[in-house]
Amino acid sequence: MASMTRTRSGTIPSMETSGHEFKDNTLIVVFGASGDLAKKKTYPALFGLYQMGYLPKDVHIVGYARTKMDQEEYLKRTTSYIKNPNNDPDVAAKIEEFKKFSSYVSGNYDDSASFQNLARHMEAIEKSYKSRGVNRLFYLALPPSVFVPVSKYVKECCYSTDGANRIIVEKPFGKDLQSCRDLLSSLKESWKEEETYRIDHYLGKEMVKNLLVLRFANVAMGAAWDKHSISNVQISFKEPFGTEGRGGYFDEFGIIRDILQNHLLQVLSILTMERPVSFSSEDIRDEKVKVLRAIPPIKREDVLLGQYVGANGKPGYLDDDTVPKDSVCPTFAATTLWINNERWEGVPFILKAGKALNEAKVEIRMQFKDVTQGIFKDISRNELVIRIQPSEAVYLKLNTKTPGYAFRAIPTEMDLTYKRRFTDTKIPEAYEALILDAIKGDHSNFVRDDELDVAWKIFTPILHWIDGKEGPRPKPSPYPYGSRGPKQLDSFIEKLGYKHSTKEDYSWPTTNVSSL
Ligand code: BG6
Repeated sequence: MASMTRTRSGTIPSMETSGHEFKDNTLIVVFGASGDLAKKKTYPALFGLYQMGYLPKDVHIVGYARTKMDQEEYLKRTTSYIKNPNNDPDVAAKIEEFKKFSSYVSGNYDDSASFQNLARHMEAIEKSYKSRGVNRLFYLALPPSVFVPVSKYVKECCYSTDGANRIIVEKPFGKDLQSCRDLLSSLKESWKEEETYRIDHYLGKEMVKNLLVLRFANVAMGAAWDKHSISNVQISFKEPFGTEGRGGYFDEFGIIRDILQNHLLQVLSILTMERPVSFSSEDIRDEKVKVLRAIPPIKREDVLLGQYVGANGKPGYLDDDTVPKDSVCPTFAATTLWINNERWEGVPFILKAGKALNEAKVEIRMQFKDVTQGIFKDISRNELVIRIQPSEAVYLKLNTKTPGYAFRAIPTEMDLTYKRRFTDTKIPEAYEALILDAIKGDHSNFVRDDELDVAWKIFTPILHWIDGKEGPRPKPSPYPYGSRGPKQLDSFIEKLGYKHSTKEDYSWPTTNVSSL
């Protein structure tokens, strides 16, 4: 009997990775293994992949950092953020298995003897591998001050000569255009572009990955995706907590370098790019660069800056001991970007992000233009909202006839909330998705060197102004901890054409028609 093969619909052949996947004989080295990022993100993601069966067979993980600690302490730290809330014995058993192929080496970041020691440790592990051709994946969960020496010494002392090597680097990639270029060229002395994976973890988020499908697999969406239909777009990042504990780091960078220049600009580029020739990584990244090149540097008048102050028993930014008392570092920023191409000319793209706001939310809100007037009066605009987190959702706000005898229009929405629509699926953590991509050799969701260059070109002039390199530093407007941001925010957005939904008619999640 002929075997029954089920053909799946909806495959995206051009997205299938053409990269070389790391399978057996793979070693993953985590630099900065004692740090916060490794503990909170990298190790839990590695465990998540292991649990799902996605790590290469016989993989070993080697942690490396300056801190001296024994194996027990290392394992305690690196598994402390792995979740097992119900004490599930299967998960507990998996954690024990995970510990068995993880070991630690301490050493400096700036001398070759330390890296030679690491190399000996790796070779000892690799002796047990059955065949030659050892693949090494180096993950730099490190501050930028040591990127350059570590990447250089890894290349000199730890590079696999008979297998493949990959290096994953975390942001920040510089502080402005020049420092980014310096950093890129120093890294390039040791590592080829195809070996380098620059993480922007927003590219690993499910909804950001969905943008390509949502746009290009739906004629209905594609048809409305331009200046003829769209009035304005907001991409917002809101966090309900301040910089507690990270004030020292944050004060050097500010909210624009922390969120807008990387995470939100990456989202913008995927949202606005043209249709790529294929979904292969270089075709996607070519289109992202092209649209970013059409964005001129942000003007000062298109910027609103804020800094949170203590309220409701919560401390202000300046109350953080690690922050200079007279700091004018913005913890909130709204900036308007313009795309000078035929598709988007004249449409404002507002990127806004803030710490210590009233809620946790990251979303894209595309507001459509007014419908032709005449037959309607005061009718709400359509809005397409793509909620990246929490609770992934896509919903379209649209007008519908009030059910019943009346002939009026009311605003409502078509709602695709993932939790309600999909069952039996696990949405991967961004870091899980990205580490898996790096193992597979797929660069699509990593940042290419020319993307970075153009991203810094857009933001560098306002960053230099904020840093005081061109005269007095602008003073951010205060906003209370737990609020929506500076009070000028509404007028900043409204002057760009944003109209609030007709408030008295719109109620969510249900509308009581009898009250209308
Ligand atoms: C990081 C920023 O890149 O992203 C942090 O440095 C921010 O300040 C974090 O809190 C937000 O990531 P997520 O995945 O929690 O939205």
